[in-house]
Amino acid sequence: AICVKTCFVMNRLAEAAEDADYYHDYNDTLEFEYYNSMLINTLDEDGNPMPLGGEFALEENEHFNKIPVNTQQSNIQVPTNVYNKDPDIVNGVYMSEALNDVFIDNFQKDPTLTWQYFGSASGFFRLYPGIQWIPDENGVVTFDCRKRNWYIQAATSPKDVVIVVDVSGSMKGLRLTIAKHTINTILDTLGENDFVNIIAYSDYVRYVEPCFKGTLVQADLDNREVTETRGKPSNTQGKHANCALRVCVCVCVCVQATALGQGSLCNQAIMLITDGAMEDYKDVFEEFNWPERRVRVFTYLIGREMTFADSVKWIACNNKGYYTHISTLADVQENVMEYLHVLSRPMVINHDHDIIWTEAYMDSVVSDQAQSLLLMTSVAMPVFSKKKETLSHGILLGVVGTDVALRELMRLAPRYKLGIHGYAYLLTNNGYILSHPDLRPLVQRFFFLFFPSCYRRFKHWMCFV
Ligand SMILES: *[C@@H]1O[C@H](CO)[C@@H](O)[C@H](O)[C@H]1NC(C)=O
Repeated sequence: AICVKTCFVMNRLAEAAEDADYYHDYNDTLEFEYYNSMLINTLDEDGNPMPLGGEFALEENEHFNKIPVNTQQSNIQVPTNVYNKDPDIVNGVYMSEALNDVFIDNFQKDPTLTWQYFGSASGFFRLYPGIQWIPDENGVVTFDCRKRNWYIQAATSPKDVVIVVDVSGSMKGLRLTIAKHTINTILDTLGENDFVNIIAYSDYVRYVEPCFKGTLVQADLDNREVTETRGKPSNTQGKHANCALRVCVCVCVCVQATALGQGSLCNQAIMLITDGAMEDYKDVFEEFNWPERRVRVFTYLIGREMTFADSVKWIACNNKGYYTHISTLADVQENVMEYLHVLSRPMVINHDHDIIWTEAYMDSVVSDQAQSLLLMTSVAMPVFSKKKETLSHGILLGVVGTDVALRELMRLAPRYKLGIHGYAYLLTNNGYILSHPDLRPLVQRFFFLFFPSCYRRFKHWMCFV
């Protein structure tokens, strides 16, 4: 029942967002005063409300962890590095005003609902009920909805990613810093449905994390942390190596993964991070990746020097990937995000409205005057532009979502119906156990150790009793 209920909420939100976009004509010069949750209820030096601020009624609400909220209205958060009057933002916010009524109506129909939201591909985050967003001590808001797990999982298809990073002698100083930052940004785009490995090469190949040797590991929180802390190439010795061997190893890893039924099987990519390649390794790709080109290769050329750019370009262009040149740290974020769009294109063109349920996570709640922890899951669904001119290539507008307490889900399986030794558990469509009498978030990983083939087997959300 909750599945039906939650799907209903998701469908309504997605439909409202798509319709709103469909009937909205983009206006370059549009001016629209919206409530920015950072700026509401604040005054400038002269005592006037800030632009995009203004008075926004807030009231402490028991149901929302005693946070002051406005249940009549959603409001907008924009990350600090995005200009809050950018035409893309203003147009998106304006058209998504239509979601307000749907949020309110959903909440009235089902008062157990908690936060409902829309994260847009342009970067703004519409949250219902509206709140005041408190910046961190440096006055910045780093929260970017596009980097959240629920967003990435809903907006992208599962992927196997092998990051191949050049740590030869020329990769030092700023280049190495950019390379590390690129790796970390790629890791940030991976969710629990993805598999990853990092291979560093100079004169020889080494796996940055030896435990992952030769295999892809699920990019869940623990593994990502290991990879992040160790994912720092430090060895800068050695000459610019002929890396035919490494690329080969890498392609093999992916092919192997398919053969063994490891990995996500859907989207395979190699991310080559280097400051230049001496040759294009055509023979290697010919042997392992052509003609299907199942493994896409994205290449990131680091640094200002373009001497060895041609082969790097060639590799990407001939393996269904694309090539980017990253010469400053500021280029990293947007350039990395681009690969997600390429990998998710089939899903976007087909308008696959798959609902995703994230891995259970702890959230603190206030109950009976005491702070306690509650297991939560986020439910999310991608939304696409339905405009005629976008149908051929597909445009992702963003992701709608809501947070659900697992407690609410478990209420659907009342004890008396289960018998003495009966218990209920929940599985997500990618096979995660969301809830189980013995559940600690760790449990699900053991589940996969023993039942790896369950992964992505469950196409649809199921409630087992
Ligand atoms: C675009 O927005 C501006 C400012 O709100 C408005 O004056 C103008 O008429 C709009 N243009 C169209 C084509 O709607």
